[in-house]
Amino acid sequence: MVSNRIYLCLAHMSGQEQKYIQEAFDTNWVVPLGPNVNAFEADLEHFVGQDKKVVALSSGTAAVHLALIACGVKAGDEVIVQSFTFCASSNPVTYLGATPVFVDSEAESWNMDPVLLEEAIVDRMKVTGKKPKAIIPVYLYGMPARIEEIMLIAAKYDIPVIEDAAEGLGSRYDGQVCGTFGKFGVLSFNGNKMITTSGGGALICPDEEAKQKIMFYATQARESYPYYQHEEIGYNYRLSNICAGIGRGQMTVIEEHIAHHRHVCGLYRELLADVDGVELHENPTSRQDSNYWLNTVLLSEDLHVKGEEHAYEQVVHGAVGGAAGVTHQAASAHTDCEPNANVEAMRMALDVAGIESRPLWKPMHLQPVFRQNPAYTNGVSEALFKRGLCLPSGPCVTDDDVAYIVNQIKVNIL
Ligand SMILES: Cc1ncc(COP(=O)(O)O)c(C=O)c1O
Repeated sequence: MVSNRIYLCLAHMSGQEQKYIQEAFDTNWVVPLGPNVNAFEADLEHFVGQDKKVVALSSGTAAVHLALIACGVKAGDEVIVQSFTFCASSNPVTYLGATPVFVDSEAESWNMDPVLLEEAIVDRMKVTGKKPKAIIPVYLYGMPARIEEIMLIAAKYDIPVIEDAAEGLGSRYDGQVCGTFGKFGVLSFNGNKMITTSGGGALICPDEEAKQKIMFYATQARESYPYYQHEEIGYNYRLSNICAGIGRGQMTVIEEHIAHHRHVCGLYRELLADVDGVELHENPTSRQDSNYWLNTVLLSEDLHVKGEEHAYEQVVHGAVGGAAGVTHQAASAHTDCEPNANVEAMRMALDVAGIESRPLWKPMHLQPVFRQNPAYTNGVSEALFKRGLCLPSGPCVTDDDVAYIVNQIKVNIL
């Protein structure tokens, strides 16, 4: 993708990727297994540490799905999911016929509120007579959740935790890599993530036995016979050896990418310091060490932005993030819960200036598709959704780009 537009987080190649891809062709490993897959997993295991094992998969969504299966989630079960997230955290719960129960965020990290989590567990046990089968906290925009408190509550009720670290690769809490606290950790290597395999993901597993089980489900649950014998339902979720070659190349620059996202955060901090009404979201305590996958800002409700009287006048064409060119015509320009007019006006103004920005993710408990689901809310994620905007943060964003972006923000404030 070559253009002068400044994107949120475009993929950036190390130059090593083609070597590993060529090797795959030269050795005829053009399948969803092989030397690149094994080596990429080894690189990831080295990176995450904690003696964890990693399975490379076709997407982060597949990783959530398989983690749920490994936690024994079945039709009729409930799974607690952070509401403030991308739909891939909760959708796989429904693939299994189980119900996502949403828990709101706390205002500092923007991730799962541990107090509300315990309230939800206690209430679900009272209402349904059984415990939720798993808990899925998320590292939204890379920001570490209050994982220590979440783990203590999960241990108290003996419920497994699946950390959704799809956006949080390389973030740390108390120095430990996010995704290594719970029973399972989800990673994504989609084109817009910290590193990419074009599309892909991984599941961080507690040990070799769990890894073997995940690989079994990821390869159609084939039993050990000379012919196809299936005693369970499996999936075709293994990462291709070609894509894993891209991943190996990307692992050579992962630390650089993380450092760059943090550098971009520092620039936003410096340049936005004197801009009233625009607040950058940063590590709330010294325990959190975000990868700043996406830098995000909140706009004060009383901030006025040029063109806000025209916000939402037009129906937007095309889904957020492109969605591979898929369009699904919206019925109207409005929904019953949307970002404030000043946020939409800023998004539109930046768009005209060649800058991609994006509203914060709309919480799952406010999505029509999950309207009937139980939700334990405190208003935090809804308020953030209405006020927030994600700004370009990826490895292709230069210092000059950040200066230009902040300048465009300033000139559009009335
Ligand atoms: C929070 C979160 N969870 C899960 C996913 C799913 O990852 P993938 O796109 O690789 O399926 C994503 C990203 O797309 C995400 O942002």
